[in-house]
Amino acid sequence: MKISIIGTGYVGLVSATALASKGHKVTCVDIDEDKVKKINQGTSPIHEEGLEELLSKAIQEKKLKATTNTTEAIKDSELVFITVGTPSKENGRVDLSYVEKATRDIGKALKEKKEYCVVTCKSTVPPTTTQEKLIPILEEESGRKAGEEFGVCMNPEFLREGIALKDFLNPDRIVIGELDEKSGNILEKTYREFDSPILRTSIKAAEMVKYASNSLLATKISFINEIGNMCKELGIDVYEVADTVGKDHRINRDFLNAGCGFGGSCFPKDLRAFISEAKKEWKQEPKLLESVIEVNLDQKTKLVGLLEEKINLEGTKVSVLGLAFKPGTDDIRNSPAIPIIKKLKSKGAEVVAYDPEAMENMKKIHPDIEYADSPKKAVQDTDACLIVTDWPEFQEVNTPKLTLEGRRMNKGEGICW
Ligand code: UGA
Repeated sequence: MKISIIGTGYVGLVSATALASKGHKVTCVDIDEDKVKKINQGTSPIHEEGLEELLSKAIQEKKLKATTNTTEAIKDSELVFITVGTPSKENGRVDLSYVEKATRDIGKALKEKKEYCVVTCKSTVPPTTTQEKLIPILEEESGRKAGEEFGVCMNPEFLREGIALKDFLNPDRIVIGELDEKSGNILEKTYREFDSPILRTSIKAAEMVKYASNSLLATKISFINEIGNMCKELGIDVYEVADTVGKDHRINRDFLNAGCGFGGSCFPKDLRAFISEAKKEWKQEPKLLESVIEVNLDQKTKLVGLLEEKINLEGTKVSVLGLAFKPGTDDIRNSPAIPIIKKLKSKGAEVVAYDPEAMENMKKIHPDIEYADSPKKAVQDTDACLIVTDWPEFQEVNTPKLTLEGRRMNKGEGICW
């Protein structure tokens, strides 16, 4: 199939590359000329496992190209995906300006195009957005009728940063929200090479599935963190509890790792947006989801409190291992390490940090702390160590000198969850 993808962030570029690897002919569109140039050279502008290899193969085989011109890209596409960002506004609601702009450009391009084409939103947008906001824009700009002269679908993504390509190629399920059967049939054809269940539903249900999925995963994390706090108090290993509770297939073990709380660019943003939308537009009081956020905010700096129960932080030197919001990425957006470092400094501690990928990014936020070039150097001559992100390599420094709470490190304590 001939496909255009508008927006080459991690969702757009991963989708484009994966679909090209399945034999589709894909054109990526982005307003950023540098990105377009890089993609056309087979160089990935983002770091995702396996992406650059597959991207350069797709470019060589002429299965994928990039451009800044939406009309040109859509001219002979049967399907267009919208994969631009949906950041948060100050008040927590979703900023739809990029999605609306992309939709407007697509609408203009549809006006010039004779053949039928299905416009599919993959960006995370609140339920009813596609129907109430995007379809009217498409109809206004194209002068055509949705469901008759062009198709519309909503196809949420469930990609985890760092392993997004793997997630795209092996999804647990593919959700197709369709305006009408013809639109859904064309989108389903895109996934014919995939060995995953395809669930077809309405557009607004597909939008809801995305928010419900992220909210439930975030709820599991806040839940286990609350249990973990009780376990700490009682001297119980929360990981052992999670392993045992997770053996119940109705619960399952995934997303029950206690820690410093969830971060990243998705869960905090999506939960806030979901809550604001529910309150302002749907007259709901999502008390459970509000608590999930509250527990998460408290959790981020709990580790510092635990350390303070053991040592007075004034005048000490504390190492922080792990700065990324999760292992396997250099992304520090909403990372617990940011408030942890701030709190340590406000208590009078000197901080030395280490992360295999995220130190350059953290230097922009905390330029005034020390950065070490290995975990071992980071813990040398410090009074305490906090393991904030669970990178596998930190297990190697988990010698009796630097290990779980209660054991001695060089001079002080090492704490993780
Ligand atoms: C998340 C979802 O997992 C994806 O399905 C979704 O598509 C994506 O958001 C999105 O909306 O675009 P991501 O933000 O990449 O993906 O990260 P996750 O791997 O889900 O981790 C999120 C946070 O939860 C991290 O801070 C992680 O450390 C934390 N976490 C995860 C825990 O604290 N405990 C766990 O057991 C699992």
